[in-house]
Amino acid sequence: MKQYLEINEWSIVEEGFHREHNKISESVFSLGNGRFGQRANFEEDFTGETMQGNYVAGVYYPDKTRVGWWKNGYPEYFAKVLNATNWVGIKVEVEGENFDLEHCEVKEFTRELNMREGYLLRSFVAKLKNGKEIKVIAQRFCSIVNDDLGAIRYSVTPLNFSGSIKFTPYLDGDIKNQDANYDEKFWDEVSKTADAGSAYITLKTRKTGFEVCTGMRFSVSQNGQTINFESKPIAREKFVANEIIVQAQQGEETVLYKYAAIVSSLNHAPADLLAACKKGLDLAERKGYETLLQEQAAAWATKWEESDIVIEGDAAAQQAIRFNIFQLNQTYTGEDERLNIGPKGFTGEKYGGSTYWDTEAYCIPFYLATADQKVAKNLLLYRHKQLDRAIENAGKLGFKDGAALYPMVTMNGEECHNEWEITFEEIHRNGAIAYAIYDYIRYTGDESYLTEAGAEVLAGIARFWAQRVNWSEDRQKYVMLGVTGPNEYENNVNNNWYTNYIASWCLEYAAYALNYVNGQTPDKYAALVSKINFKTTELEKWAHIVENMHYPEDKKLGVYLQQDGYLDKEQILVKDLPAADRPLNQKWSWDRILRSCFIKQADVLQGLFFFEDKFDVETIRRNFDFYEPRTVHESSLSPCVHAILAAKLGDEKRAYEFYLRTSRLDLDDYNNDTEDGCHTTSMAGTWMSVVQGFGGMRVRNGQLHFAPFIPGKWNSFSFKVGFRGALLKVKTHRNGTSIQNQSNKPISLFVYEQEYTVGANSEVEIKKEDLVSSK
Ligand code: BGC
Repeated sequence: MKQYLEINEWSIVEEGFHREHNKISESVFSLGNGRFGQRANFEEDFTGETMQGNYVAGVYYPDKTRVGWWKNGYPEYFAKVLNATNWVGIKVEVEGENFDLEHCEVKEFTRELNMREGYLLRSFVAKLKNGKEIKVIAQRFCSIVNDDLGAIRYSVTPLNFSGSIKFTPYLDGDIKNQDANYDEKFWDEVSKTADAGSAYITLKTRKTGFEVCTGMRFSVSQNGQTINFESKPIAREKFVANEIIVQAQQGEETVLYKYAAIVSSLNHAPADLLAACKKGLDLAERKGYETLLQEQAAAWATKWEESDIVIEGDAAAQQAIRFNIFQLNQTYTGEDERLNIGPKGFTGEKYGGSTYWDTEAYCIPFYLATADQKVAKNLLLYRHKQLDRAIENAGKLGFKDGAALYPMVTMNGEECHNEWEITFEEIHRNGAIAYAIYDYIRYTGDESYLTEAGAEVLAGIARFWAQRVNWSEDRQKYVMLGVTGPNEYENNVNNNWYTNYIASWCLEYAAYALNYVNGQTPDKYAALVSKINFKTTELEKWAHIVENMHYPEDKKLGVYLQQDGYLDKEQILVKDLPAADRPLNQKWSWDRILRSCFIKQADVLQGLFFFEDKFDVETIRRNFDFYEPRTVHESSLSPCVHAILAAKLGDEKRAYEFYLRTSRLDLDDYNNDTEDGCHTTSMAGTWMSVVQGFGGMRVRNGQLHFAPFIPGKWNSFSFKVGFRGALLKVKTHRNGTSIQNQSNKPISLFVYEQEYTVGANSEVEIKKEDLVSSK
C-alpha cells in the first residue's frame, strides 16, 4: 500500500516528483475517451521508470500462444490490444541539452488529473545539467467531444537564461508491446508524410490488418502571440517529426500547441483514413486549444451531472468514488457495439485489453443506471454478435448441436485464454452472460430484447450446460465435474456450488425466454426454432436437470459447499495467516494455494449476491460468516461483492471497510500492482458498493427499492440513477433520505419497503423516524 497522492475531491494530485512510483502514476493519471486512451507518459523524453502506452479501442493483434505443453482445444493466439503510435511525444532541447527529468534537479513538481474537466496537467521547475533552469507546464486531454482528437499545451519558460529551445513534436509508431510473447513488433508502415506544419503516419497491424492513421499539427506562441517558426520535417521508419527552434527570453513563456487526430479502419475505409485525419485536425485548428478545452470541460460537466456520487464529510472516499466513475466513463461510452471494457481499460497492457466476464458480472449495472439504455444493450449485443464463435468454441471442446461456450477472454469472440484449468473449466462465465440479459431486462423492462437477440443466446448457453452436466447413478442427481469456480485458487473441482446453481438457473431462464418469444411472437419463435434447429425434447431435458441438480451443502454448518471436497481441506482463517505470507499469490507455491482452503474472491457469495431474493437473510448471513473469513480478496473483484452483502446484513462497519478497499485500490496501490494498469472493471463494483451497498438499491417486480444507511464518517452521500425514463437523485443524510425526481416522469418506488410516489420534478423527503428499518 502506498499513499503518496494527495486527497482532493475533484483531482488526483501528486505533489513532488515520486520517480520511484512513476509507473503507478502513469496508470493512475491515464486518459481516455472510449475511442482511444493512454498512460500518463511524459511528453518529453524520459529515461527513468516508465511503460509506454497508447491504445486504440478495438485494434488488436493475435499474438501466437506461448505455452509449455500444448493441449488440444487451446487457442492458437492471444488477442491483445496494441500499443499504438505515441502521439504525445515532444522532444525538448534546451541550449543543446536534451531535457529528461531523470537527469534534472526537479522542484515544485505537481501532477494533476483533473476529473471535473477531464485533463492532465503537470508543472515543475527543472534544472538541467548545463545549469539552465526552466519552468514547464504541460496540459493535455483526449477529447470526449470529438473522439478522434487529442490536444497538448506544452509551455516552457527559461528562468535563468535567454536562449534557444528546440521542440521536436513527433509521432512514433516504432513501438512494441511489453507483453509480446515473441518480442515481435505488431505494426507495419503503410505511409507517412511530414511537412512544415504537420505530419501523418499510417500503420497497419500484422495479421489482423487494422489500419490506424495518426496525424499532428502544431503552432507556437510567445507572450500569447502566435509566432512564425522554421520547421524541419523528419521522417524515418514508422516515425515522423518536425524540429522547431525558437529563441526564448528569460521569464517569458513559449507555448507549443500540438493537436493529434487518431482514426482507424474500424470507422473509415482505409483509403479515406488520411482525409479523415486531416479533417479532424482542420477542426482542431479551427477551434483552437482553449475552445477544445472548454468543450471538454462542458462535456465532462454533463457526464458528472448523470453519474456523480457526492460524499460529504470524507474527502478520501469522495475522491475515490469520483476516480472510479471517471475511469469508467473514460473507458467505455457505449457508442460502438463492437467495443467492450478490458479489465485495465486504457491504462496498461495486462489482460490484453480483452473482454472478460467482468463486463457482465460487474460493469452492466453501472452503465444501466448512469447512461442511456442503449449503452448496456450494446454490451449485450456484443455477445450476441459473437454467438457463432461461442458455438465454434464449444465445438472445439467436443460440444455439439448449437451448444455455446463464451470465451474466458476474447477480443473478437474467439477464446484467447490458454490455461486448461481456466479455458476449459472456468465455465461459470457463460452464466454471467445469461445473467446480464436478465439484469438488463429487470432494470429496463425491455423484454423485447429476448425476441431480438436474448433468447438465441440463452438457448446456446443452456444447450452447453445440458451437455456439460452428467447423471450420477451414485447420487441419482446431475453433477458437474472438473470445473473452476470464480475462486481460481481451486481448480478442477467437482460440483462448484456457484457453477451448478447458475447453470441450473440458466436452463430455467432460457426455457422462460423461449416460451416468452413463442407467446409474444409465434412467427419469430418459429423462425428461431428453425434457425437453431431447436427441439421441444430439449426443454424436457432442461427441466429434468433443473429438478435434479446436485448442490453441495453442509447441513450441520448450514452453508453451501464451494465444492464437494471443500470441507476435507484444513480449515484455517485468514486472520491466522502470518502477514508475511500475503498476498498468497506472490508468496506461496501454486500447489500450496490449491490445496489450501483460502478463497481468492467471492464464489458461493457471488451466487448469493446475484440471486439474493431466492435465499433468506439468515442463509446469506451463515454463508457470509463462513466464507468471508477464508477469503483473501486477491482479485480486485472481491471486496465490492462483500461490501454489498455486508450492507445487506446490516454490518455497516464491514461494508465501509470493504468499500474503502475497493474504491482506493489503485489510488493507494493496495494490491501492489497498479503499475501494470488500473483495475477498471472492478471500479464498476465500487460504484455498486455505494448504490447497492449503502443505498441498498434493488429492482424488484419492475420497481426500485432502496434501503439506505450512511457510513459513520459521512455527513451525507447522494447518487444519481436513471430508471425507465425517470432520473433520480437519492441523497441520504444523518436525518433521513430525500429522493428528487429530476425528470418529467412520475415514479413510485420503495424505501425500506414503504411505497412512495415521487412526482415529476419533485422531491420526497423521508425522515429517519419515519423509516421502519428492515434490518
Ligand atoms: C479474476 C477473474 C477476472 C480477471 C480479470 C482475475 O484475477 O480472478 O475473475 O475475470 O482477473 O479481471
